[in-house]
Amino acid sequence: MLRSVLFVPAANEKALAKAPSLAADGLILDLEDALAPTQKQQGRAGAIRFLRETRALKTPIVVRINADRSSEQSADIQAIAGEGPTAILVPKVQSIDDLHHVYQQILAARTRAQRTIPALWAMIETPLGVLNLTSIAQNGRAFGLSCFIAGTNDLAVELQCSPSASRIGLLSVLSQIVVHGRAYELVVLDGVYNDFSDEAGCAAQAKQGKALGFDGKTLIHPNQIPLANQAFGPSLTQIKHAKKIIAAYKLKKNAGKGAINIDGQMVERLHFEAAKRLIAHTKLETMTP
Ligand code: COA
Ligand code: MG
Repeated sequence: MLRSVLFVPAANEKALAKAPSLAADGLILDLEDALAPTQKQQGRAGAIRFLRETRALKTPIVVRINADRSSEQSADIQAIAGEGPTAILVPKVQSIDDLHHVYQQILAARTRAQRTIPALWAMIETPLGVLNLTSIAQNGRAFGLSCFIAGTNDLAVELQCSPSASRIGLLSVLSQIVVHGRAYELVVLDGVYNDFSDEAGCAAQAKQGKALGFDGKTLIHPNQIPLANQAFGPSLTQIKHAKKIIAAYKLKKNAGKGAINIDGQMVERLHFEAAKRLIAHTKLETMTP
């Protein structure tokens, strides 16, 4: 469950100190855009220390490396791959070759450090990345690809979309990311909301992301965590409804039936399966009213 995944700049000591106590479902230690070019070495050291000090933490910890097969990217992989991150997040993925390149370097780094191979997460944030989604999703599995993140800030600039609360210019791209993620069983995470003092705006965008089919949202500030947990978590109403569907299909009179009537609405077996999945994946403490 990755409803809320918080970016933490890996060179920001205060943010790193705060991160383990936060209720985010996942953390991304950032070595890319959150750091000035002069901070990269400090960021790698911060990420390594964080990974070593939080081994007992159950929260997935991902590290975003630099982009474009650069020397900074190689240095990031050398530093991080053997330190046991849950995944390495590759930004600006344009083609499957970008993932292959990172994967080969991870393998080399891992041999020296003798640790398990981190998964790969990919940011889709360029027009070419969008055009190559099928190849990236289909072939990425062989390199451990398990998640797509919509890089909405870069996408808006690259596509030259006008900024709008409705994200109208991005909607078709966001849907394509979801479709490809679902087709190849990848987790799909929505992009960040920059105005971290506008909680209502962030909550509305998180709801939109949920409506588009995303599993969760990437975040930049602690005050956005409860908003994403609320938007992407199942509500008590949803839980109650799912339990009702399961109970109905267990009734003798409904055994062997396809579509049934629950409170004047058609419910089908696909809803029964979805209800069972929802209950199986719901921890009581994560429910929202
Ligand atoms: N992760 C962990 N802690 C964070 C945080 C984050 N992303 N953003 C803020 N905090 C902490 C602050 O350190 C501060 O801690 P304190 O209570 O110990 O003082 C507290 O939350 C309140 O922060 P606030 O003063 O409101 O904001 P700020 O000025 O410290 O930081 C940003 C604002 C935008 C610089 C910061 O949120 C940030 O760097 N976010 C991530 C940016 C990023 O990673 N971008 C790349 C991906 S898009
Ligand atoms: Mg970006």
